[in-house]
Amino acid sequence: MKIVGTGSSVPVKIMTNAEMSTIVDTSDEWIVSRTGIRTRHYAQDETVISLAGAAARRALEAASTAGIDRSDIALVICATLSAERRCPACACLLQRDLGLPENILAFDLNAACSGFIYALITAESLLRPGQHALVIGSETLTTLTDFTDRSSCVLFGDGAGAVVVTPSDEPFSWVTSVTGDDAPLAVEKYIKMDGNAVFQFAVPTLVRSIREVCAKAAIELDQVDLLICHQANERIIRSAAKRLGLPLERFFMNLANYGNTSAASIPLALDEAVRAGMLQKGSRVVLAGFGGGLTSGAICMEWQ
Ligand code: ACO
Repeated sequence: MKIVGTGSSVPVKIMTNAEMSTIVDTSDEWIVSRTGIRTRHYAQDETVISLAGAAARRALEAASTAGIDRSDIALVICATLSAERRCPACACLLQRDLGLPENILAFDLNAACSGFIYALITAESLLRPGQHALVIGSETLTTLTDFTDRSSCVLFGDGAGAVVVTPSDEPFSWVTSVTGDDAPLAVEKYIKMDGNAVFQFAVPTLVRSIREVCAKAAIELDQVDLLICHQANERIIRSAAKRLGLPLERFFMNLANYGNTSAASIPLALDEAVRAGMLQKGSRVVLAGFGGGLTSGAICMEWQ
């Protein structure tokens, strides 16, 4: 799998921890020490579709410098759990709004915070050589947030990330594992989460999937140049890094600025890493997600 363009977009409104403490009984000190989160972005006029569209336009613009035109897109997948409407799918509306070809597959995918990983794996499976896909993660989690529940409302934010991808002969490996369990995390009207149970699930799952995907790609853990994990909580990433025996600096983190944006968090982080020049040709990168389902998934690829 080759990523030929990345983009991202977040709402204008920034919500600080100080502002959170005017809504629920919390403090900047508690939120930073337990999660690493300092601010998050909240949609006001923005929607899942408008954020996805803005991120996708940037990814398509980046891809155009590699000679890929909108007319080359053969597939659109939007990973989301917070779309405003169940139907039409965001991907279908984006296909129209972005002026993409009509005779292509466009659909949404929900695997909670692992959604972007599942969408990339799906794209890799469906694309034929020479075809390209637009893969997006976009969320307005604030529409699903219970602002009376201090243990969850401080965690979430809104945003979107997108990539243009094409299959390639270069090494690409993926693993996923799923455990049907709605006790730790479920979304009906609002996100309902047992934070400790999610934490207990997240760390070993992240460690196992990173180990497995590197083994599948036949590379040693210490040969990985950059790991981009789902940005849920700095403590989860720190614990995983420690168990893997890898320096924390190898783990890209931007959750301090955005909080947990579910399916958007990995492509949003990937776009920032790319634009910061952290990935060069030949860099080995692992993307790893975990979340409601319970779901998890990891991808190992060589940057081209
Ligand atoms: N401000 C102040 N105090 C709080 C807050 C808050 N925002 N939230 C909870 N507390 C209190 C609790 O009431 C409790 O008080 P008590 O001891 O008097 O009962 C105390 O802090 C400790 O609560 P814990 O829940 O044990 O705190 P913990 O250290 O486990 O941190 C947290 C909670 C941050 C939610 C942690 O469990 C976590 O990060 N879990 C993983 C969550 C996650 O990653 N979810 C997303 C993955 S899935 C997805 O992305 C949709």
